[in-house]
Amino acid sequence: MTANGTSAALLPPTQPTPEQVDALIVAALARLDRTMPQFVDHFPAPSSESGVYAPIDNVEWTNGFWTGMLWLAWELTGEVRYRLAAERDVLSFADRVERRINVDHHDLGFLYTLSACAAHRLTGSEIGRTAGLDAARLLLARFDPVAGVIQAWGDMRDPAQRGRMIIDCNLNLPLLFWAGRETLDPAFAEAAHRHLAQAARLLVRPDASTYHTYYVDTATGQPRFGSTHQGHSDESCWARGQAWGIYGFALGGLHTGDDSYFELAARLADYFLARLPSDGICCWDLIFTGDGEAPRDSSAAAIAACGLLELVKALPLSDPRRDSYAAWAWRIVERLGTAYVAPLEGSNALLLHAVYHMPNGAGVDEACIWGDYFYLEALVRLRQVWVPYWS
Ligand code: GLY
Repeated sequence: MTANGTSAALLPPTQPTPEQVDALIVAALARLDRTMPQFVDHFPAPSSESGVYAPIDNVEWTNGFWTGMLWLAWELTGEVRYRLAAERDVLSFADRVERRINVDHHDLGFLYTLSACAAHRLTGSEIGRTAGLDAARLLLARFDPVAGVIQAWGDMRDPAQRGRMIIDCNLNLPLLFWAGRETLDPAFAEAAHRHLAQAARLLVRPDASTYHTYYVDTATGQPRFGSTHQGHSDESCWARGQAWGIYGFALGGLHTGDDSYFELAARLADYFLARLPSDGICCWDLIFTGDGEAPRDSSAAAIAACGLLELVKALPLSDPRRDSYAAWAWRIVERLGTAYVAPLEGSNALLLHAVYHMPNGAGVDEACIWGDYFYLEALVRLRQVWVPYWS
């Protein structure tokens, strides 16, 4: 099928050699090492300016990605300097949630899964566990039981934001599943199950493209309408939203044991893969499919690669999509690692050529810190058996 087709081409099996993956990891860690001294008590901004992240305090929705990279680097190398840097960050995350600094939104999952919860998972950190549970309670408080969704943004009484869910939230749900296991309180998993079901029902269109955001009536629970926030238009398919959907529904299958979420993730993946330019790296919105047509979003490509690799783990060995998704993931990661990787000099990022927020003109054709994280996560997945922080 071509770029404008309705289903992705099944690629023949292609496995990277360990040497190929290791070479990309060495290059990625060299970039992380050159950047670490700049972010000892600070974090990289969400997106770069001319390829350079400014240092910021722990105030954004994106700070966890940096700490997640440090944990990945520690898992890859066993070098204690990465663990020490990550643990220092975890203290900052504990302070942030205790003092309620910019935590009135749903991105608590991105923030705490990759920092505090990863610390608990990897080292048994009680500080991490306490901070993660505190964050999970704040996230649970954003669940509207009538609408059955977690409100993404804004005050819970704000009529403009009430009942508004967004596809990105699929990656925030693992925090609730984790908290449910830790506390044995069924409220966490129940909210996550209900939100996931609403996301599948309302954010996914019949052709397996996705709305970025969707409103549900909080008085009646009735669906209202879909709209975009960062995409080209309400009815187009924002590439990163589709990537959050691929990975997020695959994780939904993992957490719920419901295979229909894996099938849904696969349908979203097929839609995504059928709309890639010739080098396999998506444009920022999937309404654009051609070479040179629009800026690319390398961060969406990296997220999608992780989602594909999670699907590879989930699908039966006999399923022909399994080899194909593995081949697509490697094709994407290899291309990112050879043509989108930032130079060692003149940048403090890992990957260039992402788009943060095209409608606002923010971070267009720049590095985005979550792209760096998911690229490194994809490399870890390709190198070794790895227990996801999202699991
Ligand atoms: N979750 C916000 C974004 O992907 O830009």
